[in-house]
Amino acid sequence: MHQYLSHPVFSTISEAAEELGLDTNVIGGFVRDSLLGKECKDIDVVTVGSGIELANLVAKKLKADKVVVFKNFGTAMIKHQDLEIEFVGARKESYRNNSRKPICEDGTLEDDQNRRDFTINAMAFSLNTANYGELIDPFNGVEDLKSKIIKTPLTPSETFSDDPLRMMRAIRFATQLNFQIEKNTLAAIAKEKNRISIVSKERITDELNKIILAKKPSIGFIILEETGLLPLIFPELQKLKGVEVINGKAHKDNFYHTLKVLDNICESTDDLWLRWSAILHDIAKPDTKHFQEGHGWTFHGHEDKGAKMVPHIFRKLKLPLDHQMKYVQKLVRLHLRPIALVKEEVTDSAIRRLLFEAGNDIDDLMKLCEADITSKNKNKVKKYLENFELVRQKLKEVEEKDKIRNWQPPIDGQTIIDTFNIQPSKKIGEIKNAIKEAILEGEIQNNYEEAFTFMIEKGKELGLTASKKNTKS
Ligand code: CTP
Repeated sequence: MHQYLSHPVFSTISEAAEELGLDTNVIGGFVRDSLLGKECKDIDVVTVGSGIELANLVAKKLKADKVVVFKNFGTAMIKHQDLEIEFVGARKESYRNNSRKPICEDGTLEDDQNRRDFTINAMAFSLNTANYGELIDPFNGVEDLKSKIIKTPLTPSETFSDDPLRMMRAIRFATQLNFQIEKNTLAAIAKEKNRISIVSKERITDELNKIILAKKPSIGFIILEETGLLPLIFPELQKLKGVEVINGKAHKDNFYHTLKVLDNICESTDDLWLRWSAILHDIAKPDTKHFQEGHGWTFHGHEDKGAKMVPHIFRKLKLPLDHQMKYVQKLVRLHLRPIALVKEEVTDSAIRRLLFEAGNDIDDLMKLCEADITSKNKNKVKKYLENFELVRQKLKEVEEKDKIRNWQPPIDGQTIIDTFNIQPSKKIGEIKNAIKEAILEGEIQNNYEEAFTFMIEKGKELGLTASKKNTKS
């Protein structure tokens, strides 16, 4: 296994460990990823003794700037080149990421391995001179890596009660690596699901985001649903599941539809927030669902209602509430608009309006619309995609002509105030809006002169007179 320890930093750690007489190993994610042939920049080093003491000596040898010490946890971290190396003393107690409870009892390497989350994460490479590079794999993690299995080293309920976040981690690793969760481990998640309530929202959402950033996130969401975790962590998504039938008419299952849209969009973007837009685009369908005789199922207004739900969902999940939330909200609100532009007779003004509202997010909106095509009928898919290609074409033509994407109307509030010599008031907003509308509708051209003349007219209608000195445009 020497080939995995080719980076010079490992021999430095080995030297330091030898000098201090400490049994020292690399453990966890680095070992797993190395055996999977993946690069890993986070290195966890476990030593039977003081991790902090070892870190200090390694830092000295590497001439590293500083060692970040977390005294309560008995851990220390060094940044070296693009690596982050964490040193920890072996423990009898479970590995507790972010836990406020200090770690107490020291243990052997074996104790430490017992207390890790999964067999594939409990493997170690020795850094000791006597058996440098040897793989220490007490739970046959290598076999599980080969058979693509996520399994706990101890009984699943022991491992999960040490840290219930591990239920989410199991699902996250299954999604990222496309592994199966072993039968008993999976059953234990379903059984222990309610214990997720003691885990902080931030940590749950971290795992959720890692699932969403995987190649095929539906894998994770399906397991979350099947184990019963989904309604506990994200009830709005759970609510999309199910099909209702009235008079023999069924609507589609919006949970599986949403997952398909999510998987689809992952092929055209790695952006977390565009992926979130896919997850939330139909989130208000259950709340807007109606059966109308002669029409079948309708979901009128689900895009607006959905957009209104976005801040609440983001707040609950502790997702960022600033520009990312606004972006997702905008895409949810606009997700039906491009479809309306497919018709032959669509006017330039409708196109300008969408460009104005979407701004620079128009390309992302088109990606979302294309991902939203989930028909199994190949001919239909082809037809829809061709239609969207036409919409893209129209958007491009109108944008080249009118430059609406980043547009601000040519007359601002101050000009209106100065021209009519009035105090700031509601009328200013009315005039501004009328100018914007007239340009988007194509009634006047997008330039200062025409907008100025229009403003004077509009002012007259509202009983305002332009003060003499300001009537020149
Ligand atoms: N670990 C654990 N239980 C947890 C979190 C972590 O047992 N709840 C152990 C595992 O051995 C894991 C190691 O700590 O491999 C490092 O954890 P972390 O850095 O969170 O995860 P990685 O396995 O390195 O994977 P990733 O970087 O993809 O999160």
